[in-house]
Amino acid sequence: MLTVVVCVSGGGTNLQAVIDGIRKGIIRNTRIAGVISNNPGAYALKRAEEAGIPSFCVSPKDYKSREEYNKSFLKKMKELGPDLIVLAGFLVILPEEMTRFYKNRIINIHPSLIPSFCGTGFYGLKVHEAALARGVKITGATVHYVDEGTDTGEIIMQKAVEVKEGDTPQVLQRRVMEEAEWVILPQSIDRIAQKY
Ligand code: GAR
Repeated sequence: MLTVVVCVSGGGTNLQAVIDGIRKGIIRNTRIAGVISNNPGAYALKRAEEAGIPSFCVSPKDYKSREEYNKSFLKKMKELGPDLIVLAGFLVILPEEMTRFYKNRIINIHPSLIPSFCGTGFYGLKVHEAALARGVKITGATVHYVDEGTDTGEIIMQKAVEVKEGDTPQVLQRRVMEEAEWVILPQSIDRIAQKY
């Protein structure tokens, strides 16, 4: 069985898609050992609690230095012992020790078709603002492995989504989530779990 830890920062709709995916059998052979947020106010923590999943907040703001935060984050991760770490809207750059220790065992969901609208500064609503500003007619989402770079790791799955006349960043974000993110994140985890 694949043991997963999900890292979150905000609303947690992708976490919810993973929880529901396991319940519905879309994701097989998988359990969530814990959810880690950097943000104590993240609604994702409530979703974890409601699903009976142990949840933890490890925030850089609670540590004197980045090194101390990194150490504590890695310690908590090792305690939970994941086979796979899922970044589901996690907005903190991972410590290098973490990407090294969990090489090829961390995946991320990004709300565009990589290599478009990705890398430093492209997260959340900003991605959709940039897509609309550029006037693309197709966007989408990507699940990829995480390496030392930002959004540079091997691509696992992608799904395209149409941009529609009059879209606002919020409307487009919601469509990309519904039609792409909540579909390919569970499917990617299932695909990895089938190899366990
Ligand atoms: C999602 O759209 C996710 O793809 C994006 O943040 C949102 C989190 O929503 N992630 C990134 O932009 C990472 N670069 P959620 O908390 O409701 O899952």
